[in-house]
Amino acid sequence: MKAIKKITCIGAGYVGGPTMSVIAQKNPDIAVTVVDLNQARIAAWNDADLNNLPVYEPGLDAVVGEARGRNLFFDTDVDKAIREADMIFISVNTPTKTYGKGKGQAADLKFVELCARQIAAVATDDKIVVEKSTLPVRTAEALKNILENTGNGVNFRILSNPEFLAEGTAVTDLHNPDRVLIGGEDEEAIEALVNVYAAWVPRERILTTNLWSSELSKLVANAFLAQRVSSINAISELCEVTGANVDEVSRAIGQDSRIGPKFLKASVGFGGSCFQKDILNLVYIARSYNLTAVADYWEQVIIMNDHQKTRFAEKIIQTMYNTVNGKHIAFLGWAFKKDTNDTRESAAIYVADHLLDEEAEIVVYDPKVSAEQIYKDLDYLGSRSPEDNRRLLKVVDNPYEALAGAHAAAVLTEWDEFKAYDWAKIKEGMKRPSFVFDGRKLLDKKELNRLGFAYYAIGE
Ligand code: NAD
Ligand code: UDX
Repeated sequence: MKAIKKITCIGAGYVGGPTMSVIAQKNPDIAVTVVDLNQARIAAWNDADLNNLPVYEPGLDAVVGEARGRNLFFDTDVDKAIREADMIFISVNTPTKTYGKGKGQAADLKFVELCARQIAAVATDDKIVVEKSTLPVRTAEALKNILENTGNGVNFRILSNPEFLAEGTAVTDLHNPDRVLIGGEDEEAIEALVNVYAAWVPRERILTTNLWSSELSKLVANAFLAQRVSSINAISELCEVTGANVDEVSRAIGQDSRIGPKFLKASVGFGGSCFQKDILNLVYIARSYNLTAVADYWEQVIIMNDHQKTRFAEKIIQTMYNTVNGKHIAFLGWAFKKDTNDTRESAAIYVADHLLDEEAEIVVYDPKVSAEQIYKDLDYLGSRSPEDNRRLLKVVDNPYEALAGAHAAAVLTEWDEFKAYDWAKIKEGMKRPSFVFDGRKLLDKKELNRLGFAYYAIGE
């Protein structure tokens, strides 16, 4: 089989943008074109000022700066990019369905199917089609059906190549992946994709499996990771009533090499576009095969996570004498984790919604999230009118402004800069008692207590 010379990726989001940038950076002989229907997003990827890329990831500006215009291109002409490519990645969104059968659980595959139909309609020569999006097990079968029923004689070979990058560390994860997973049946196609990654990933870290193992492994990896967070969060509540400290418990169990130290940080609850969506999808698939015990088991991970978010909001209300009506609460952080501007399923959204129901007055500061995005997140919930969201919640671009005159500060995201603030100065400007609710166990408890804050952290 001839070497891959042209790659197209459909979907220029948090996965398509960074993964293709690194593939282009490491394969200067392959022309990589990333296409999207969203014109504003493509314009931002092409912005001369690398600070304006639509995805904030440490180190991404340098990668894009190196490859863009050389062999990395961002475009809105999807048909042309499909026609010219030897290999096409599908990296579009696969959100939880909000309608019809499987509503609230199953993955919505309409965007993936639209891509397959467009590829089928436009392609005039043989293509390797790669599933980069996270998809339910056996989706490749449906793709194959759509692609093969075009009758134009084009031969499509389908591979599954799920992405394991985490946001905030996407570039280092892509440069140095624990593994790259490629599922497929066609040896030549697999080898072609292996060669793309082998430009920088050691061969022993490139795993090949059958299609179904690859598709399922992605859902299972996310389910296991999220399960660890829910497990330690469950223990955090037990710590609070028994006098144990959840960080000490994490350290004690994490030193056991069978358990390992990662993903044992108690928090206000996991967020992000993947964990909840992928577990719900796993639960849905298990139920569709009548595996009730399996489905119930994994569903608990989500139930525990919802409980943790509610519990944090309730803790704030209860500690502030059972009412937050008219009280100024400064939110430090809105993103679902540090070093990203992504807010999808962020715990901050749900904690804010709970407190706004109680008529709290929230002032948000996040180093990377825009006011527009924050209001969009709240309005999407539909809990109150957009006017009320704007009346009760303000967004500022200076943390000291958010905290001035506040009854309480709540840490929702673990941004490093929050630790470096002048907390003595902040204390002077806050109402007394000055509450701090640390949903990330981020700040220095001893120091805050010394300064006279009433400090509460998850899990102690
Ligand atoms: P995203 O919403 O950021 O990006 C998807 C993009 O696809 C959007 O810009 C959208 O406009 C575009 N798109 C949709 N339909 C299109 C079409 N028919 N033609 C052209 N463009 C189209 O989503 P994301 O976070 O990049 O996730 C993409 C996939 O990767 C999902 O399946 C997700 O589960 C998976 N994934 C995400 C992450 C992550 O950290 N975000 C990690 C691993 C896997
Ligand atoms: C996750 C997977 O890690 C990644 O492999 C997959 O490709 C996409 O989904 P992501 O959601 O970007 O990545 O970030 P991750 O670091 O996994 O964090 C997810 C959520 O869990 C965040 O809200 C984070 O704050 C929370 N978390 C993580 C904890 O609360 N405690 C931990 O110990 C780890």
